Order: sequence, then structure tokens, then C-alpha cells
Amino acid sequence: MEEELLRIREVSKHFGGVYAVNGVSLDIDHGGICGLVGPNGSGKTTLFNTILGLHKPDQGDIHFKGKCINNLAIHQIYDLGLVNAFQLPRLFFNLSVLDNMLVAARGQQGDRLYNSLFLRGRWQEQEKGLIEEALDILEVVELTQWAFSPAGELSGGQRKLLEVARGLMAKPRLLLLDEPAAGINPVLGKKIFQKLKDFSYNGIAFFIVEHRLEILFDFATWVYVMDKGKVVIAGEPQAIIDDPTFYAVYLGEE
Ligand SMILES: Nc1ncnc2c1ncn2[C@@H]1O[C@H](COP(=O)(O)OP(=O)(O)O)[C@@H](O)[C@H]1O
Ligand SMILES: [Mg+2]
Repeated sequence: MEEELLRIREVSKHFGGVYAVNGVSLDIDHGGICGLVGPNGSGKTTLFNTILGLHKPDQGDIHFKGKCINNLAIHQIYDLGLVNAFQLPRLFFNLSVLDNMLVAARGQQGDRLYNSLFLRGRWQEQEKGLIEEALDILEVVELTQWAFSPAGELSGGQRKLLEVARGLMAKPRLLLLDEPAAGINPVLGKKIFQKLKDFSYNGIAFFIVEHRLEILFDFATWVYVMDKGKVVIAGEPQAIIDDPTFYAVYLGEE
């Protein structure tokens, strides 16, 4: 049997007396879109940050591709293919959208002085491939017409799209996204999720926090619901919608 891509067992993260993540166990399979939802303060961001190595878990184990990553540094986790926007080089507002894509590409040889000085030909050969890849991804997120505009000219929603696009440039095995549909119109939001689904057939898995449940539930293969630091329901979207606990969790929010 093939191992899960990400396997989390009994992971806890406390901040003083606050049990932000309290004994969470979950699995993410190879490929597919997995959703993570729950009211504000339920521990979603803390769980993401613990997976990505920003926090060390107080308890429990996190395995990625069969390897324990509890004690790995952030860049080592990234090198394994577990990617989130914060690990990528920051957005350069005065660089073009396309250049910001190239900067986010993994293992780019052009950033090494040696290569750019002595292996210019090879670097350009590689860059040509990267440019094609970047333009393909920009088309997916409907940013093609801004490819040569400074990133600083993009709207908030478009920056969110560029964030997704740059994450894909890093060739992740598992891409963690925090609200990719925030500030984007519903039609485009659905298109983006459809494209993520297409990418997922090519072996990229997605773990996505998204408050736009009407979009997420149309595309997610599996959903985890968190409340007060715990996973309280897990299942296919329809099973989540049919579960009274799901509504109780959100009613308790206000
Ligand atoms: N760095 C921190 N220091 C102290 N408390 C924190 C910190 N980060 C999160 N928390 C607390 O942990 C709980 C979960 O927060 P968070 O993970 O941000 O939830 P969510 O992303 O679901 O809104 C909240 O009570 C929050 O106040
Ligand atoms: Mg959060």
C-alpha cells in the first residue's frame, strides 16, 4: 500500500495557556484537493505553520513522504516539496509579474553568479523553458495580460492569484494555500479551483484553508473541520454538509 503524502498524528501546539492545536491527526493523500475549514481561532493557521516548520509541535508527529519532519528547518521542509507562499522570495513590486514568477522557480540556475557569467547559454536555455512554464501558469490564473506589468500594479485579488501561481512555479508535491479565493469574484474563484483540480491530476496535492465554502466544497475531495484546536469532522464535502456538528461549530462562532 502506498503511504500517505502527509501524515499527522496527535499534534499539539500551545501558546502559554492557549491550546491552539490540540491533538490533531489527519492524512493528506497524493493528488487531490483537501480542505481545512473552521471558525476564526479554531487553529487552522497554527496547524499550517506547524506543518511548515514555523512552529515546532509540542507533541505528536508529522511525516511527509514517509519522513519525520518535526525537527527539520523551514528550508529543508520546502526542499522536500512542501510549499507555502511565505517560503518563496517576496514579491518585488517593481519587477514584472513574469520576473516574479521566474524568481519563484525552484532550483533556478540563473541566480548563481557563476552560471550567469560562465554558462550564460545554458542559463538562457533553462530560462526559456521556465518562461514557457510561467506563461502557462499565468494563463491559468488569467494574468497573461499583466505578465510584463510591474507586480505593484496588480489589485489585491490579482496578487492572491499571483501567489497561487508562484506556489505552482516551485513545483510542489504538496501546496498549502491560505484562502486562495479571498477577494476574487466567484466565477474566477471557481475557475481557479478547477485549474487546481487539473494540476492535482498531475500529482500535486493541495491543502487549502478557504472560507468560501460554496467554492471549496465543489472541488475538494476531502474536508477537515476544526473547532477549538481539534479536528471535529472529516469527510467528503457532502458528508460534511449533512453533519449537524458542522453547523453547530459555526453557530458557536459569534
Ligand atoms: N503566536 C501566537 N501567540 C499566542 N496565541 C496565538 C498565536 N497564534 C495563534 N494564537 C491563538 O491560537 C488560537 C488559534 O489561532 P489560529 O491558528 O490563528 O486560528 P485560525 O487560523 O483558525 O483563525 C487562537 O486562540 C489564537 O489567538
Ligand atoms: Mg487563520
